[in-house]
Amino acid sequence: MIQNMQNSRREQLGQFIPIHYHGQMLANAERMQAFKNSIQAVVRPGCKVLELGGGTGVLSFFAAECGAEVTCLDANPEMIQWARSLLSQNPGGQHIRLILADAMEYMPEAPVDVVICEMLHSGLLREQQLRVLDRFRHLHAQRFGCVPRFLPDTTLLAVQPIQQNYNFFGYHAPIPLFQHPTTEQPDTVGLGDPVVYSVIEYQEPQSLLQKADFVFESHAAGTLNALRFITKNLVAILATEHRSIDWHCQYLVLPLAEPVQLQPGDRIRLRFHYLAGAEIEQLQRALLVQRLPQGDINLLFQGNVALFPSARTAHA
Ligand SMILES: C[S@@+](CC[C@H](N)C(=O)[O-])C[C@H]1O[C@@H](n2cnc3c(N)ncnc32)[C@H](O)[C@@H]1O
Repeated sequence: MIQNMQNSRREQLGQFIPIHYHGQMLANAERMQAFKNSIQAVVRPGCKVLELGGGTGVLSFFAAECGAEVTCLDANPEMIQWARSLLSQNPGGQHIRLILADAMEYMPEAPVDVVICEMLHSGLLREQQLRVLDRFRHLHAQRFGCVPRFLPDTTLLAVQPIQQNYNFFGYHAPIPLFQHPTTEQPDTVGLGDPVVYSVIEYQEPQSLLQKADFVFESHAAGTLNALRFITKNLVAILATEHRSIDWHCQYLVLPLAEPVQLQPGDRIRLRFHYLAGAEIEQLQRALLVQRLPQGDINLLFQGNVALFPSARTAHA
């Protein structure tokens, strides 16, 4: 069963991540710090913690360091071997229970307090974070009558209209790009504010369908030739401290098939839909951008929740 799953899943790159990418994940200081701080803020001695998609075992190890009873699950037998070897090289790591299983099928025999799951990809595309956690939440509640705490707690998805330079040393190549979220991007000009199109709270029932229908007002003159997708994860929400511990996935920049020339104040309607976990191409194919005629105010705005402090929307 696992073998069949592996064969079919191997074709879906997002699910089976080779060890050198795990190396990059371990070396991503912002990611590691956000998860380590979140686990330390939430996990208490004696807590029952389950990690879905444990990879090298690092997040399970952080939970075990907090005194939790930890189970770490992964569907990739190579990663289970790596986790076993790496955990044995870290003090106390050998006490973590490792399970080879598909997170889409697994349910523990007893309730758990905290579920850690980092199957996060820009736009919640490619990896199955939402599908896995929605199923787990539903079955856990059905079987045990309670919902565990999830790390991450919430994911915010936002989109921003941009002008992107696609000239690579004289070679024009408008293709999908990733950007480090905290690095200056001299080849990108923001033409409007980011707008949140989905707020995903993992403790609540969720739809896989992600969709947007917004109107952007241009800030500046430029060529709208791409959209930047922003994925902000509130890894832990510390309500009593009125703060969250956040981590952004890489920005995903998708080129538009037909660039649009903009002047300040021009309004552009943007529509798209896709399923969480789908390939990037599904979103790319669904992008619809339409310039609105001057003075057209009879527009229907849907789901336009401006949660970013700097966000400004056409109807605000
Ligand atoms: C992005 S990595 C994160 C690894 C580790 N949690 C970390 O933060 O360093 C996602 C992991 O989930 C595993 N995975 C993906 N789909 C899975 C599934 N359906 N069931 C169990 N594990 C899965 C992959 O093999 C991979 O190790």
